[in-house]
Amino acid sequence: MKQITVNTSQGYDIFINHGILFKCGETLSSILNTRTLAIITDDIVNSLYAETVINSLTSQGFKVCKFVFPNGENSKSISVLNEIYDFLCQNNITRTDCLIALGGGVVGDITGFAAATYLRGLDYVQIPTTLLSQIDSSVGGKTAVNLNCGKNLVGAFKQPRCVICDPDTLLTLNDEQLADGMAEAIKYGMIRDESLFELFENHDINNIMDCIDDVVYRCISIKKNVVEADEFDKGERMVLNFGHTLGHAIEKFYDYEISHGNAVAIGMCLITERAYRAGICEENVLDRLINCIKAYNLPYELNVSMVAIVNLCKSDKKRESDSINFVICDKIGHSIIKKVSINDFQSFIL
Ligand SMILES: NC(=O)c1ccc[n+]([C@@H]2O[C@H](COP(=O)([O-])OP(=O)(O)OC[C@H]3O[C@@H](n4cnc5c(N)ncnc54)[C@H](O)[C@@H]3O)[C@@H](O)[C@H]2O)c1
Ligand SMILES: [Zn+2]
Repeated sequence: MKQITVNTSQGYDIFINHGILFKCGETLSSILNTRTLAIITDDIVNSLYAETVINSLTSQGFKVCKFVFPNGENSKSISVLNEIYDFLCQNNITRTDCLIALGGGVVGDITGFAAATYLRGLDYVQIPTTLLSQIDSSVGGKTAVNLNCGKNLVGAFKQPRCVICDPDTLLTLNDEQLADGMAEAIKYGMIRDESLFELFENHDINNIMDCIDDVVYRCISIKKNVVEADEFDKGERMVLNFGHTLGHAIEKFYDYEISHGNAVAIGMCLITERAYRAGICEENVLDRLINCIKAYNLPYELNVSMVAIVNLCKSDKKRESDSINFVICDKIGHSIIKKVSINDFQSFIL
């Protein structure tokens, strides 16, 4: 068993182990005071893993109720959130009880936000089941739902009570879902850890599962360090946005028909190409990144006008009023946050 402690305002442990899902009841019985839990999950994860989790929890004396919603980003909505609130009410969940987010980032984000707001806040536990949610969204306490006019526009910081990560759950992901998570994993290597990046260079989509524990552990360790240094996203945490400034715009351009990981992969390559052109990084940084992206069946280029993409960056509702932040890797394993005017950003990209 590997364990990582995150020292944020409310500290918590992340437990990483094969088969830990079967023992989540034992893990939680030593951490939680309550014996009443509400599991929130989606239909796919429900059919794959809910029974295992519920059996383990009830064997330890937990009383469990469960809310299941349709899988997919469309469910990260105010209307599903409302259904969750009603469900918690109907099941008499109180402020001292605990929610369990069992699933990918969609389940984690909406459950975390429900936990941050229902009865002015109660505990929640993350049991992430996608690579993306294990290495990224389940750690760090960012929770949110989407509005019609944009993603993650209503949210809160709310750290989980603990995170239970079972790498065996990743065995049921398809190659596209695995690749999606790998885009974020490659991002961690690029911004902070050349030896992690080398691990990715020495594998590909067909054999990365052979060392997935190590990947999960090392990526979470990087996220932990960044989050501890800047829990509320005022400065250093922005390095996690490498590839995301353009990536978010690319997602919007395709009206979210492109996956987040695919958009981030392209975003990392485009910004690194600009960095190379501007003399900020060596050509081999770009070459190594593109080769690595290709090895995980991720896209690295875009055949649409960059003017449209830059315009979408400008209209990003979450950017600061007259400037834009973006991240550049000057060498593999090292990153710089740039804050520039919109005009300078535009000339850097176009
Ligand atoms: N809070 C944060 O810091 C943060 C960070 C990054 C991303 N996110 C959010 O995370 C979401 C994306 O997360 P995601 O990629 O996990 O998406 P997701 O939760 O939609 O999961 C992707 C698909 O995989 C299925 N699935 C989940 N676990 C599975 C398993 N073990 N086997 C087979 N199928 C499984 C789900 O049912 C879903 O259909 C986005 O909403 C994004 O905004 C949040
Ligand atoms: Zn991301």
